[in-house]
Amino acid sequence: MAIRNIRMDDDEILRKKSKVVKEITPRTEELIDDMIDSVHEYNGVGLAAVQVGVLKRICIVTVEAPEPVENEDGELEEVNPLIHNNGEDLIIINPEIIPQEDCDVTDNEGCLSVPGKFGLVTRPFHITLKAFDRNLEPFELEAEGLLARAICHECDHMDGILYTDKVEGELHDVSELMPEEEEEEIDEEAIPEEEATEE
Ligand code: NI
Repeated sequence: MAIRNIRMDDDEILRKKSKVVKEITPRTEELIDDMIDSVHEYNGVGLAAVQVGVLKRICIVTVEAPEPVENEDGELEEVNPLIHNNGEDLIIINPEIIPQEDCDVTDNEGCLSVPGKFGLVTRPFHITLKAFDRNLEPFELEAEGLLARAICHECDHMDGILYTDKVEGELHDVSELMPEEEEEEIDEEAIPEEEATEE
């Protein structure tokens, strides 16, 4: 097992379509184990194989279960299990996402391939995921909230899509999250798009 290097957003491989996994070879096993180690090493919520330079439709999603909060009666309320999958490392191969209900949510998102940045993206709140596990056995999973968002984000990577393609408004710098910073109103309409180009 090893930590793999993350490809950054100027790397063309991130724009390529990943291939369907037809068999699990010892190399695929090693890749999956390395991806699990890597996503934890980099404190990510998810990691797609293309982000470590392998064009296979594999990703890991790992959403930590939040601490349960006390309700008015002092009882611990169960955290919706659909949003954290009990903190397990979810290995997702050849996924298909079926959005459920007509409910989208807009929230902040980041990516290990776009370090130091975040931005608003709209995703379905509730999805059904149909995919295959590391033995290529099919499984189905319901997911909501952050877990659904992370799965959608990672599956986009498999089609060469970065969240920055979908970001609403400006891409923000994480330094803007510092509490001492005052909120500033930015008139986004006033900034010509040409000036927003990156390197
Ligand atoms: Ni990403």
